[in-house]
Amino acid sequence: MTDVAFQRCISPQCGATYGVDEVRTACGACGSLLDVAYDWQRLKPPSKLSWFEQKWSRRYEPLSLSGVWRFHELLPFAPPEKVVTIGEGQTQLHSSPGVAKYVGIAGGRLLLQYEGMNPSGSFKDNGMSAAFTHAHTIGAKRAACASTGNTSASLALYCSVTKLMRAVIFIGSGKISYGKLSQALDYGALTMQVAGDFDDAMQRVQEVSSQLGIYLVNSVNPFRLEGQKTIMYRVLESLRWQVPDWIVVPGGNLGNSSAFGKAFIELHELGLIDKIPRLAVINAAGANTLFELYEHRGLRWNGGKPQEMSSEYYEELDADKKRASTIASAIEINRPVNLNKCLRALDRCRGVVREVTDQEILDAKAQVGAGGLGCEPASAASVAGAKMLVAQGVISPEEQVVCILTGHQLKDPDATVAYHTTDQDQFNKVLGSRGVRRANYANRAVAVPNDLVEIIKAIQLYS
Ligand SMILES: Cc1ncc(COP(=O)(O)O)c(C=O)c1O
Ligand SMILES: [Zn+2]
Repeated sequence: MTDVAFQRCISPQCGATYGVDEVRTACGACGSLLDVAYDWQRLKPPSKLSWFEQKWSRRYEPLSLSGVWRFHELLPFAPPEKVVTIGEGQTQLHSSPGVAKYVGIAGGRLLLQYEGMNPSGSFKDNGMSAAFTHAHTIGAKRAACASTGNTSASLALYCSVTKLMRAVIFIGSGKISYGKLSQALDYGALTMQVAGDFDDAMQRVQEVSSQLGIYLVNSVNPFRLEGQKTIMYRVLESLRWQVPDWIVVPGGNLGNSSAFGKAFIELHELGLIDKIPRLAVINAAGANTLFELYEHRGLRWNGGKPQEMSSEYYEELDADKKRASTIASAIEINRPVNLNKCLRALDRCRGVVREVTDQEILDAKAQVGAGGLGCEPASAASVAGAKMLVAQGVISPEEQVVCILTGHQLKDPDATVAYHTTDQDQFNKVLGSRGVRRANYANRAVAVPNDLVEIIKAIQLYS
């Protein structure tokens, strides 16, 4: 392989390589996932991370403004003229004293990376910008994804803004929140509502893409994950290039956790950081494949050598007809496509995996909202997981912890309104059916008659 960027099988035993101009989601030799790999010797990336600060003064250039592409030197798989950006990644770390107290971390040591501020309202735009760039480089005209909602919203947005491709999205019937569905429809994506769940839609979109030659942008696409590495670069940037002790992230298809692991492995190998943070991946209890396999059945990266545990577990799921079920629809996934990459990340980042209930997710979400950074249910799994890890003594209250808030609050208003409502029927329908018993931090609307005196009385009583 003579190119400075190429694709490489993640299995160290195989290590087959492919050109960046090839469209693949798996290794042709052994079926493993692929990485985008670089010949860093020839590319000569910056020798310190602070080098990137010079880009701040060139914000008039789209590639310097983008929170993904201002780190282009760390994902150099496409020439600048082919890069597609719509200004993604203008996100930052926030401290939230209320959330820190809730989690049990000393003030200022708990930080929230708010990816809801991306153009389509979720972290997906980081990866979409990179996958879209690759698709554009190879001349794709149609791009597809299966989605619990955010990937489709992001793909639809990139297609409608740039007009470079037509979006074809696959969603599970009734499995997508209205906020996200409305985005895909409004942006004009061809929307295939599959009678099934995300895992079914994922299987179908892979078959359809390979039969019709449609470019697949799900996170099995290694270029997607290159964009998602930059979330960690921005975390480091906000910390003036200091590495935090912990990164806590929700786990669905395990693209983020995989991308974060790759980002830190590369930065460490390049000598750009001197320590690797620990990684905590948080499943919803109703979609807990990673937790079950990693924490109960001992599945590990194991040097990339295949193990039986995951296929045995999937057979059990099938035999029991068990489907993923959680209010956190974005992570309602039982067959995470990036499982092996995530295991590698957990290995290198001394990772832990936890599961949190929908009750814990929604209470954590209410705390995040009360701190002013609204997030969707899946995102709050990171905060609920951090709280659990502090309570278990795995995270010490003095450590610096970064929780990733993956998506915006407005993505799923039904869950938020049902949590805060006084209407017991609505609560039971949306949340009670998920095992949520109480809205511990509800901010209930006060019902008042249309009468000035009564309204004033109520305000004086409650404020
Ligand atoms: C808001 C949100 N959080 C978390 C996830 C899960 O991310 P990953 O697949 O990277 O584990 C998703 C994926 O759809 C998402 O939309
Ligand atoms: Zn291989």
